[in-house]
Amino acid sequence: MNYQTIKKDVHTLETEFEEAINNARDLKTLDSLRTHYLGRKGKITLLFKVIGELLPEERGKAGKLLNDLKKKIETAISQQKKNIPEAKKSESFFDSTLPGDKWPVGRYHPITSVLREIKSCFKGMGFSIADGPEVEKEYYNFEALNIPKGHPAREMQDTLYIDNETVLRTHTSPVQVRVMESQSPPVRIIAPGRCYRRDTPDSTHSPVFHQVEGLCVDKGVTFADLKGVIVSFAKRMFGSDMKIRFRPSFFPFTEPSAEYDFSCLICRGKGCRVCKGTGWVEISGAGMVNPEVFKYVGYDSEKYTGYAFGMGVERLAMLLYEVDDIRLFYENDVRFLDQF
Ligand code: PHE
Repeated sequence: MNYQTIKKDVHTLETEFEEAINNARDLKTLDSLRTHYLGRKGKITLLFKVIGELLPEERGKAGKLLNDLKKKIETAISQQKKNIPEAKKSESFFDSTLPGDKWPVGRYHPITSVLREIKSCFKGMGFSIADGPEVEKEYYNFEALNIPKGHPAREMQDTLYIDNETVLRTHTSPVQVRVMESQSPPVRIIAPGRCYRRDTPDSTHSPVFHQVEGLCVDKGVTFADLKGVIVSFAKRMFGSDMKIRFRPSFFPFTEPSAEYDFSCLICRGKGCRVCKGTGWVEISGAGMVNPEVFKYVGYDSEKYTGYAFGMGVERLAMLLYEVDDIRLFYENDVRFLDQF
């Protein structure tokens, strides 16, 4: 603290007060204004307390500034009190024509809303909901998903390690393994949840994000079933205009593998920040469960086949609500959250 900052604070408080006093038309508001500025923990009272920290030659000047403002506020408040009609001063006065108090209404965070919507779409298609830990054994996050030691996905820049064999899960795929370990086919689940990666935040990356995993294992499950489920989901969630694109890809735990994109509803293909000018937004990966994974959980890959998919929840939320910066979901600025 120095004299200049006090001077600036006094100025700000003064402008703020002038506006407030003009709008204060009843005793209660005036009293709370007094407390706000001059009360035991009032803005001005607190400034008085730091005067001692200033250089000796500045103390007098600062004290005068504060005293002047204090006087000004006191005078303005008593002046304003005189302006209040007698009828309003008595406590029994009740103006039944005034509108009632509005209570602030809480709402779901946009990510929560999207998750609820996704769950309801998949429940409607016969999926149940599974759950797994966010602090996960390396075995489930990597090993049992056929991601051997030395695979690039294991490298430190992607994964947050707790210790040698424990990580913050980098995807929801470990829940696939946990579910298959605990039940025999048929399996038809989704697993929504939080994931973590060592990414530098930017408009499309956040070190914490959400995925929804999907897994279906039964006799005779094919890639066509996978496509059908994704297409039905996309149209249900976004409407029949939504276009879906599958591209060949690679994941150690699915074979064959694909990545799939939804058409960008924000720019309708013209190119924008969310789709990076391509007209398509990458949602996640998918594919047929690799028989290697079945080995880990003791499923008979001669008898059963399955598909699995991931889903980037923030990406879906960005498309749905036309949000072009993922960081907005995590800053918890009420002006942003209020819109949903
Ligand atoms: N787990 C993969 C990822 O996070 C996505 C995926 C899920 C791919 C299921 C295939 C099957 O990128």
